[in-house]
Amino acid sequence: MKSLRNLLLGAGILLLGSCNQAPVSAPAEPAPVDKAAIVLENIMTRASVRSFTAEPVSRETLQTIVRAGLQAPSAMNKQDWEVRVVDSQDKINAICDIMKKANPNAQDRFPDKNSFGNAAALIFIANEVSDQPGAFSAVDAALLAENIVLAAHAMDLGACIQAGPLRSMESAEAQAWLKSLGFSENYQPMLVIPIGHPDQEVTAGQRDASKAKFVE
Ligand SMILES: Cc1cc2nc3c(=O)[nH]c(=O)nc-3n(C[C@H](O)[C@H](O)[C@H](O)COP(=O)(O)O)c2cc1C
Repeated sequence: MKSLRNLLLGAGILLLGSCNQAPVSAPAEPAPVDKAAIVLENIMTRASVRSFTAEPVSRETLQTIVRAGLQAPSAMNKQDWEVRVVDSQDKINAICDIMKKANPNAQDRFPDKNSFGNAAALIFIANEVSDQPGAFSAVDAALLAENIVLAAHAMDLGACIQAGPLRSMESAEAQAWLKSLGFSENYQPMLVIPIGHPDQEVTAGQRDASKAKFVE
């Protein structure tokens, strides 16, 4: 008896539910996407982020960002770059300690954080060393780097292209650490990009518009 009551009650709820449902109609037209506005907004609002929260960034997200980097153009499509992603905090802290040991007087921008602002990951970019005329590996690697920081910004992450730290990695210990990244023999690490969830408010900086001119 109880089960029959439950059955009727259930049927009533179902009926009531179906009465409340809106009639099926054709799906609404999707709003047109203003691709240009989205891309330009992303470019114009990006700013370097150098301090990060402790929140990790998933490998899937890092993969997406690096893939966007690899989509950069390169001279004669040589893709004369290599990328290594370090997301082990132990490994990141190890290079920070090595850099500190080599430059004990260097001041960190964020004293309560490591030299990379506690980044969730470091993306190292190396370019091919070549004395061939027309070699543009440094330009190519820089374009890759820009794609990476723009992709990170589009995903609400922060990042900063950096060359300076690599100049502080000249000690034998630092060189051994860099070697562990496994770049090919003829490739040199040129840039490092700390990346993570921003722990600072940044706004896009002003640019000197007079640097670009139309020529009549
Ligand atoms: C090739 C290159 C090297 C850079 N090296 C460093 C660096 O060593 N340390 C750093 O904090 N920022 C570095 N930056 C970031 C610049 O300081 C930053 O892009 C510039 O001040 C403009 O600020 P914005 O990125 O917020 O627009 C570098 C940027 C580029 C393109």
